[in-house]
Amino acid sequence: MTIPHFYTPSHSFIIFFFPFSPLQLQHFCFNSIMETNSVSKWVLFILVLIQLGCQNIQCTVTYDNKAIVINGQRRILISGSIHYPRSTPEMWEDLVMKAKQGGLDVIETYVFWNVHEPTPGNYVFEGRYDLVRFLKTVQKAGLYAHLRIGPYVCAEWNFGGFPVWLKYVPGISFRTDNEPFKRAMKGFTEKIVNMMKSEKLFETEGGPIILSQIENEYGSVGKALGVAGHNYMTWAANMAVGLRTGVPWVMCKQDDAPDPIINTCNGFYCDAFSPNKPDKPTIWTEAWSGWFTEFGGPIHERPVQDLAFGVARFIQKGGSFFNYYMYHGGTNFGRSAGGPFITTSYDYDAPLDEYGLIRQPKYGHLKELHKAIKQCEPALVSADPRVTSLGNLQQAHVFSSESGHCAAFLANYNTNNAAKVMFNNMHYTLPPWSISILPDCTNVVFNTAKVGVQSTQMEMLPTNAELFTWETYNEDLTTVDDSSTFTVSGLLEQVNVTRDNSDYLWYTTNVHVDSSESFLRGGEHPKLLVQSTGHALHVFINGELSGSAFGTRENRRITYKEKVNLRPGNNKISLLSVAMGLPNIGGHYETWETGVMGPVALYGLDQGKQDLSWAKWTYQVGLKGEAMDVISTNRMSSVEWLQGSLIAQKQQPLTWHKASFNAPEGDEPLALDMSSMGKGQVWINGQSIGRYWTAYATGNCQGCHYAGSYRPPKCQLGCGQPTQRWYHVPRSWLKPTDNSLVLFEELGGDPTRIQLVKRSTTTVCADMFEYHPNIKDWHIESFGKTQELHRPKVHLHCGPGLTISAIKFASFGTPLGTCGTFQQGTCHAPTSYDVIQKRCIGKEACAVTIANSNFGQDPCPNKLKRLTVEAVCAPSTRG
Ligand code: GAL
Repeated sequence: MTIPHFYTPSHSFIIFFFPFSPLQLQHFCFNSIMETNSVSKWVLFILVLIQLGCQNIQCTVTYDNKAIVINGQRRILISGSIHYPRSTPEMWEDLVMKAKQGGLDVIETYVFWNVHEPTPGNYVFEGRYDLVRFLKTVQKAGLYAHLRIGPYVCAEWNFGGFPVWLKYVPGISFRTDNEPFKRAMKGFTEKIVNMMKSEKLFETEGGPIILSQIENEYGSVGKALGVAGHNYMTWAANMAVGLRTGVPWVMCKQDDAPDPIINTCNGFYCDAFSPNKPDKPTIWTEAWSGWFTEFGGPIHERPVQDLAFGVARFIQKGGSFFNYYMYHGGTNFGRSAGGPFITTSYDYDAPLDEYGLIRQPKYGHLKELHKAIKQCEPALVSADPRVTSLGNLQQAHVFSSESGHCAAFLANYNTNNAAKVMFNNMHYTLPPWSISILPDCTNVVFNTAKVGVQSTQMEMLPTNAELFTWETYNEDLTTVDDSSTFTVSGLLEQVNVTRDNSDYLWYTTNVHVDSSESFLRGGEHPKLLVQSTGHALHVFINGELSGSAFGTRENRRITYKEKVNLRPGNNKISLLSVAMGLPNIGGHYETWETGVMGPVALYGLDQGKQDLSWAKWTYQVGLKGEAMDVISTNRMSSVEWLQGSLIAQKQQPLTWHKASFNAPEGDEPLALDMSSMGKGQVWINGQSIGRYWTAYATGNCQGCHYAGSYRPPKCQLGCGQPTQRWYHVPRSWLKPTDNSLVLFEELGGDPTRIQLVKRSTTTVCADMFEYHPNIKDWHIESFGKTQELHRPKVHLHCGPGLTISAIKFASFGTPLGTCGTFQQGTCHAPTSYDVIQKRCIGKEACAVTIANSNFGQDPCPNKLKRLTVEAVCAPSTRG
């Protein structure tokens, strides 16, 4: 017999057994415990039963109309998406622990088929693709997992998660009633389920997985396909259920999901959603915490007040499981970004930023929301809400259980005005577009619009790492390497040729220009027309870059029509077509074409139009540098690198650059500032950081107010700046010295100005109202066991290795503005700066109670005051 596979690292936990939460304890299974022969383990087993009140002994996950039921207990479950390949295994534990500290119960991830099975039957589950290690990290933290197997995942991931080879399986048609597709999908789903079973990762075997998803948002796609769509969906559901995982399956955005599969909601709000059967719980599988970014577009933010409002609205309606998509978005390393044009950063404005750092106030405000919801859990799981009107646009949702629990949600849907409402004979003030949560039906512990936690501003600061010994290698396009090329008449679809082994495909043809052409004697130059289905195009005439054109995510088609510099005799026209991530969404997107599909024609020659579409075209898949593996750290010598002393002046297109650097000190996350470059890909020690492109963001960045329905165009940032300037370099990819950076630049840029920067907290702000004795709903700093009203405190926290070095702004009174733009209002306590400085300077964290007595005297009696602080964080001086 073996030791039970508890997730705790040592047995010391037995001694501290009772402090463990029911959530943690529910991971223990009868099966696991039975495997031991030690007497103490039997004692432990009995204690587990007492603690859980586990009637059925076996670990079970079921559901009813109210909630997911784990070991007989209905649960309100708070979940967050963290996609394992979008960070490194070295980051996982920290991310998961931060998620846990943020109040999450569940970590959700998709399973990304194309990284696991790059060629048919050859599986990869190592490094960033180590799904089992990721799930065991979740388990070790005492959290549950929701495994969205898909295997179609969408997710702004290359080809929606499907391997490109799947497209070339004879007779295949994706996501419909088609045998080859169903066979492949079943094969992969089974592979994953069996792997989970053999690792005992389903909850019923003592593991963390409590839920699985099959397909993804198939509802509208299936409807468009009619009977075939319905048959496929039913087949997928039956196939999944037949795998007997022991835990429920969900299908998101699938109104007609057959029993026992739970249909779930995705969106910015899901309070209008109800499952398709009265015995199914209300689940929100994707609460969009922000939005993804496209090259050339702005950054989308979702105000946390609105996100919290959306969640509270869902819970008050009777929702019992919600998942933030994303909780940590991370990075689309390599060529994993879907597309086209999804940025390498998948930050998503998530509570944990791309680098895994806590984003404030988003993280902290949601954490407070989670605490408030958990306080309501006993009432939420045992009663249906009773809805009463409190005004025109105000409502109360009250959960009052037979066992005496009562929780209330007071909502104000008015987007402009606060509302004073009367509930249970008490007055409550509700800010616009907000919900107050009263876990005892009397005291407000949380309001979605009142952000009590600090906001933190992060900046990219220089490091001491210098990039040195620059060398270059020109992607030589004058000589054609016969072994890697072929010639046919006509234009070929790009992915059919490259099989997505490279972003790049060369289309090359020759044009003979007669010396009698009139443009050669001062006439107007001919124009070259190239029509491409995307995604980017570089036109070279006789080895010189003539021009480029780019599609957009919305319109991938490119029409290039520019003057070209032809010479008498033979001219070589080389078109470099660049794929920027294969599509991940849209009806039968696998059939969408990429590359130069034509027509290609010359205009303005004496004979008139010369159509080149059916000329002889020579194809070369990928770049020579790729073929020679210039990025590989051990085969650098296969290429003749040139000393790069003049590279800053030359700014040459189609150039490989290489440099060395030592790892910078410290442990802050690192990034490359690529703003001096054009477009390409970059590698560190042979690992791809991703695609870079200094495309400037267009859009409307007028700022936004949290109130009112959110849509991504509402709150945009970064207009007029490069959409993405910084590219995450995971610390774990670096050696202390002699790291290699290799990049391929398509357009031209100055690599000597690339910098390795570190992400650091530079400013923290706090902004909080005083407690008002006549109003019952000001933020209560602690709402622990006693329910006692404490005076609110502002907390400032710079983070490890940083201390508060200066106070930029402090005002107790009626200050104006937001973090970074605070100003004194008409009321201001003159002691504000002194008080804060005394408490905070030189400290990593400080707290100041908001009370008149702290500031000498009341600066404006009878006025509701706030304390507003902006502090500067700087590296702690080491003694
Ligand atoms: C959803 C989809 C996700 C993701 C999201 C947008 O519709 O299910 O996979 O693509 O949109 O980020």
